[in-house]
Amino acid sequence: MALFISLEGCEGCGKSTQAKRLTAGLQRHGYRVTRTYEPGGTPLGEQLRRYLKKSRDAAISAEAELLLFAAARSQLTRNVILPALKQGHVVICDRYADSTVAYQGYGRGLPLDTIATVNHLATGGLQPDLVLLLDMDPSRALQRKKQPRDRFEHEVVEFHERVRYGYLELARSDPSRWTVIDASGSFARTTQYIWQTVSPLLDRYSLLQQSPE
Ligand code: TMP
Repeated sequence: MALFISLEGCEGCGKSTQAKRLTAGLQRHGYRVTRTYEPGGTPLGEQLRRYLKKSRDAAISAEAELLLFAAARSQLTRNVILPALKQGHVVICDRYADSTVAYQGYGRGLPLDTIATVNHLATGGLQPDLVLLLDMDPSRALQRKKQPRDRFEHEVVEFHERVRYGYLELARSDPSRWTVIDASGSFARTTQYIWQTVSPLLDRYSLLQQSPE
């Protein structure tokens, strides 16, 4: 039995730091963990990451952007995430398909049903068991980011507010899979909230590992 956890949220909310801390915490408890991120984590994904984040090409259409993220996700799912889950690892992914709903759907305004179809193709239907949404005011979160900013960090604040709204809608529509974590406090506080959410799941996970099935 494996466990798949994704971390979602706006730029600067501390996802990457928390993904590292959660990985370290799980490893201290003896779990085998694969930590990865989107876009990236495979040779194709890394190339796409550089292009999607750093390109100055203002003419990338929202549709092209959607498909590039999906291509990166397809590689990561099949070459990294599914094999790790098969080996019984806990997989921690810094962003997954819900980022596309929030950014290309709510942020860019692409139809949500199209995004669902593309996401399904990219993931083969795989969904995280738990989505941790690190929520905070996007303007404050962006202030935490180091310069220079990338293509998304250059977007106007209204874009980031739509992304945040999208995330909160997703969390509201599926509370059994999503947990909203207040990420506006210190990193240590956020780490604590995350651990309080993940540890009850681990108890279940350990029991399942020991069960005869
Ligand atoms: P980050 O991993 O440093 O947050 O950078 C990834 C950027 O790409 C971030 O601005 C969010 C954006 N993004 C999308 O727009 N759609 C997606 O599906 C994913 C995975 C990321």
